[in-house]
Amino acid sequence: MDETKYYHASTNPLLTIAAGVPGNEAQLKLYRPGYEHYLNETPVIDGQDAQRKRAVTLDMFSELAQTLKKQNWAKASDDMKFNLDRTTLAIDDMTSARYTMVRWKSGLVSQIHAHDEAYQLEALISGKILSSVFHRTDPFKNTVRYVRTDIVTEGVYTNFYHTPADGKMLIHSAVTLLPSTTLHFVSDVDTAKLMSSPFNLELFDDKVRLTKKDVVRISEEHAARLQIGDVVLVKSNNVPELGMHYIIIEGEPVTKPHGLRPQTITIPAGTNQLLLDPEYRKDPLVLLKLNEPAARTFLKFHNIERKVDRIILPE
Ligand SMILES: [Fe+2]
Repeated sequence: MDETKYYHASTNPLLTIAAGVPGNEAQLKLYRPGYEHYLNETPVIDGQDAQRKRAVTLDMFSELAQTLKKQNWAKASDDMKFNLDRTTLAIDDMTSARYTMVRWKSGLVSQIHAHDEAYQLEALISGKILSSVFHRTDPFKNTVRYVRTDIVTEGVYTNFYHTPADGKMLIHSAVTLLPSTTLHFVSDVDTAKLMSSPFNLELFDDKVRLTKKDVVRISEEHAARLQIGDVVLVKSNNVPELGMHYIIIEGEPVTKPHGLRPQTITIPAGTNQLLLDPEYRKDPLVLLKLNEPAARTFLKFHNIERKVDRIILPE
């Protein structure tokens, strides 16, 4: 017998929304009916069979994202009345589990903040965002370091699951590079964490000053042959959104629009003195491979473990 419990979309959602969102900004407390069935078909993840229930939730979420993609009202633009508006599409009165759509103008920053909900999904419906994930270096301090940064142009970019008991949390931030629409699912309300004191971001370049002795300049051809765990400091006019950044090789090369490229993760650099050197100023692409000791220091700083065939990012 299927004993799966499902959420119940509220029939009087404005009260629950008002209770869960602080402040008086009406544009953050909008509701649009017609999407309640997505929540009514989303299972409560209660321990039993959690993996299957997560998969069903992701299916439901993806289906809703596809639906919104085709709807004109979901489009964001820089002519919108407010910088951003948030429309709840369905909310459960008991748990505050909800589907919410956010429309953002371009150039908006969502500060580093944390969630510890059991399950959290985020997808980009349209637009372009820079999405960053962080980890805490000390559970008793609000000091964080980068895990990774991604330029997101479509699809699910957050798929985070922890039980409330394991004490882990998602810490992330986003910047909209174009007017963007995002869809969010959260299985529980967590305003306290969202409102907690600001995080203090520690950057590698603030702690370690790389010199020319720590790096070797490499060509693009060489970059295609890098090994898993190699670290490269990059200045590229192709990706101005990222500015100066580090890439860490995480997998075998794959074919990308520009040709065969290694699989990488990206971490933004701080004010990197080395790349400000006049020698590099005019070049559209500068690739500086960190030598072994420097790479080891970098990976250790970011709590990244290097194995022969993969790297392991901190949780
Ligand atoms: Fe968030």
